[in-house]
Amino acid sequence: VTARIDTIPALRQRLAAPGPSTVIGLVPTMGALHAGHVRLIETARRECGVVVVSIFVNPLQFDRDDDLRRYPRMLEADLAICEDERVDVVFAPAAREMYPGKVDCTVDVGHLGDHLCGRFRPGHFRGVATVVLKLFGIVAPHRAYFGEKDAQQLAIIRKMTADFNVRIAVVEVATVRAPDGLALSSRNRHLSPLEREAAPGVYRALSEAQRRIAAGDVDVEEVKAAAAALLPPASLMRLEYLEIVGPMDMQPVAVLDGPVRVMAAMWAGSTRLIDNVLAVPPVTGLR
Ligand code: PAF
Repeated sequence: VTARIDTIPALRQRLAAPGPSTVIGLVPTMGALHAGHVRLIETARRECGVVVVSIFVNPLQFDRDDDLRRYPRMLEADLAICEDERVDVVFAPAAREMYPGKVDCTVDVGHLGDHLCGRFRPGHFRGVATVVLKLFGIVAPHRAYFGEKDAQQLAIIRKMTADFNVRIAVVEVATVRAPDGLALSSRNRHLSPLEREAAPGVYRALSEAQRRIAAGDVDVEEVKAAAAALLPPASLMRLEYLEIVGPMDMQPVAVLDGPVRVMAAMWAGSTRLIDNVLAVPPVTGLR
């Protein structure tokens, strides 16, 4: 059975019990679990002796009050999913458990937060990196699981663990998509039927960029223009960014001469969706 724990001392006590040789896996989430989260949990379950899922809607990473207020919260349904997936512990702390006083020290994510979501959501990645570092300190896992869908978040967490010499293996898990290509997200439930119908256009656009890059197109602007033509219509969804960046440093590239991530963010009304794909140019220089 899945234990539900909401305090840090009780969690530490529970995790000390299996002994130091047990591999602990952490799946950090904000709840409203869907099949994408289940993929993270399944991967952790295969690789770890003890699986901890944290469920915490982290106020520090929200740049808009309305987004924080309406972020879906459904702890009972989440617990049932965790039970089905044989999660050992759900750690679901209250905000005052995570932030008992004023937060003074936070993680500066440097240039990794300059572009893409970092540019449009000031302070977001500072909040993400800070809570993830706290969860790493609280749970002390050996392995931690993050989705490819949040590629900038993943790049930042990887760099943070390297820069701070944190001995935790950061594991990337592939994006889970609906049959029509839409990346699963807790925010998809806010889409109207018309927006939901148009939303897979984001993935179609990213896939077109991926196809062109794989076919040897080296012109970034040309690839972006071809992709943009397949995005959902502006009457239904507004484009925030469509960028091609280095997969590790998240900086826009000028030439397509190595693997890149094609990343997009779009707004449907007041709902913001993000998605990305890895694109690899054809191998050249093999003579
Ligand atoms: O990806 C998320 O759900 C959140 O950003 C995370 C990693 C749980 C931190 O709050």
